[in-house]
Amino acid sequence: MAFPEKGRARADILRELHERKANDIDWRGGRAPVFVFKAEDEVDRMGREAFVEYFAENALGATSAFPSVRGLEQEVIAMALDLFHAPPGAAGFMSTGGSESILLAVQTCRKFERDRRGQPRHHGNIVASETLHPAFDKAASLMDLEIRRVPVRADLRADVAALEAAIDTDTILLVGSAPNFPYGMIDPIAELSEIALRHRVWLHVDACVGGYLAPFARRLGRPVPEFDFSLPGVRSISADLHKYGFCPKPASTVLYRSAADAAFQPFDFSGWPSGRFITGTVVGTRPAGGVAAAWAVLQHLGAEGYLRIAEQLLGGIDRYRRELGAIPGLFVVGEPDLAIVAYGSHDLDAFAIATQMAQRGWQPGLLRRPRAVHRMMSMLHIDSMAPYLDDLRWAVSELRARPPAPAQPIEARY
Ligand SMILES: Cc1ncc(COP(=O)(O)O)c(C=O)c1O
Repeated sequence: MAFPEKGRARADILRELHERKANDIDWRGGRAPVFVFKAEDEVDRMGREAFVEYFAENALGATSAFPSVRGLEQEVIAMALDLFHAPPGAAGFMSTGGSESILLAVQTCRKFERDRRGQPRHHGNIVASETLHPAFDKAASLMDLEIRRVPVRADLRADVAALEAAIDTDTILLVGSAPNFPYGMIDPIAELSEIALRHRVWLHVDACVGGYLAPFARRLGRPVPEFDFSLPGVRSISADLHKYGFCPKPASTVLYRSAADAAFQPFDFSGWPSGRFITGTVVGTRPAGGVAAAWAVLQHLGAEGYLRIAEQLLGGIDRYRRELGAIPGLFVVGEPDLAIVAYGSHDLDAFAIATQMAQRGWQPGLLRRPRAVHRMMSMLHIDSMAPYLDDLRWAVSELRARPPAPAQPIEARY
């Protein structure tokens, strides 16, 4: 497309934008397996209106031009630290998402370790279960670190003994997920906490997915294991507001047990003709809308609202799992703790089921080991459960009646 010589009318452009969405997935109808999270219409409205209130402001200027943005951000962090049972003196930052929070935690830990060891060029390793999110590999490739992915046990749970055995003197970071993305299962963070203390290794909990749901599931009496700062070995946590915090994108939190650890995070530079450049995030300019909207949604819902949503969502997922179990030949992968659920089949190829479902407009999320159909569920998926299950029953009976030609290639991709 050539750079336009002349401008176009606003209405014309808005119409085109709207029309361009015609071939996108109908996420409102629950047809996307991930990407968009929804609680209630009212929560969406709150987030949207707060975002627009701060549409133009730049969170880069939070410590200079926009003290209100700084205040909102500090309050979001304070609320998060409280939720995750942080001790006095804990600290944290907002970021633009899980990947950025993870990059920040890894580089903070690396800086701390380089300082502690007196080795400014130390390249350490990160030990974690193989289910670790690839954002850590991204961080490791940017920072030239080694990642040691330890296979899970046959029951798909993290192998704690093998994780401990993978730690050596160059290990700078042990990571547990709460929950992991592939199976939706929470790693045994209490045991990892003990290992971390014993080996004096920094333990980070990737609660990007579960952070803002697990505390409420626990309060509802669900058997969700401890994962936060109440475990003494947990030194940092990443938790995304734009997932199960139901806040508009971009919004995440990265939190540290102590302000001394957190002090390693900001980038502070003076070696240029302009003024001192100090940022807490990887990015510079950052939408203040994401900060204001997160503050607004947390205040709007409060624990009461999050409990209500957790009850509806997890109750809906219980029903979904029961219905899946009632379809002959299907099984739920592992024992998901929260809202990620994958299902496979004892006798059919799960990717063939996914292909059938795609024909009916349900974009598949896929798991390769075991082959399964994977969904990160929010109220969008609960509200559309009946047509989804109808189509799933159709897909399964269709495959049984007419086994497909050799599987068409289908890629598990995000
Ligand atoms: C466990 C886990 N960690 C980190 C991330 C990265 O989050 P983001 O997509 O916000 O960068 C994800 C994303 O799904 C995730 O599932």
